[in-house]
Amino acid sequence: MAEFPIVEGQFIDRSLVLELVRVTERAGVAAARWRGRGDEMAADQAAVDAMRGELNRLPMRGRVVIGEGERDAVPMLFIGEEVGAKIGPKLDLAVAPLEGSTLCAKDMPGAISIVAMAASGSLLYAPDVYMDKIAVGPGYPAGTIDLDNEPGANIEALAKAKGVASSEITVCILDRPRHAELIAKCRRAGARVRLISDGDVAGVIFTAQPAETGVDLYLGSGGAPEGVLAAGALRCVGGQMQGRLVLDSKPKIARAACMGVADPRKKYDMSELASGDVIVCATGVTDGPLLAGVTFDKGVIETETLVYRSATGTVRRIRAAHRGLATFDFL
Ligand code: FBP
Repeated sequence: MAEFPIVEGQFIDRSLVLELVRVTERAGVAAARWRGRGDEMAADQAAVDAMRGELNRLPMRGRVVIGEGERDAVPMLFIGEEVGAKIGPKLDLAVAPLEGSTLCAKDMPGAISIVAMAASGSLLYAPDVYMDKIAVGPGYPAGTIDLDNEPGANIEALAKAKGVASSEITVCILDRPRHAELIAKCRRAGARVRLISDGDVAGVIFTAQPAETGVDLYLGSGGAPEGVLAAGALRCVGGQMQGRLVLDSKPKIARAACMGVADPRKKYDMSELASGDVIVCATGVTDGPLLAGVTFDKGVIETETLVYRSATGTVRRIRAAHRGLATFDFL
């Protein structure tokens, strides 16, 4: 008899949780070497190389479904690339070796390295377009928010569900000219607006821990691939999220159709963005509200990682001191 019950819907061997931590730890450390050096490409490349090397050690037959881009455009971790040691389960991977490359290059808060692992076919094959997103953390009745509602209505409904005034709600939004009207509407509704310069995967995940991050609601458009990664993490804690691809031209609609998107106006629920058994792992590169960044000291590198597992809803925060620095000797 198994020591632990197998949870219904569980597909991924839970020992892969720790294996995945190693993947983002390595990528995070590699990227952190480039903090503040003004070179986004070098930071990203270092993270990609490190992540790929570690992924290839895992006992899985993995396929990158969300990666650095199309095969023709990028040499590594391209969409469709096969990774893993070619033994074990067939798994899909969504990877952002360095999410917030500008944040890392400028040594600003919030850069992370993140991976989602799921049973084959469980993650939306999102094209590299924008996605309109709305997200809240756990503990609210289903349907409290809706992407098609006005920002003011969402803020009011959330405030009611939380038992506070609208003025006590903080909305996180990417600081972009395209969001000027959205920001104005949120402020008119009485909410506070937390603007972030980059990194909307973390922006969405902030809503899962409002007491720590101060963020109740995420609104606005950001990368669609980032939307799938964020949905994977939020699902593990029972939050709510919806997303709609921004397919505003015929070529984009055609590209999305090639990736299996039949309805260009479809509103995806969180569990359609990331369904089934999902593990999401994120390591801090620079300090941020979610995670501490990598620290380098004589003989010790420290990392902080969050691992989310949908099968049990477990979230682990893993603080690691890496003393066997040979592990990082490729740096
Ligand atoms: P990169 O790490 O690829 O630079 O992405 C950073 C990011 O801020 C994402 O978090 C977000 O989804 C996207 O860029 C927003 O795109 P844009 O900068 O075009 O508004």
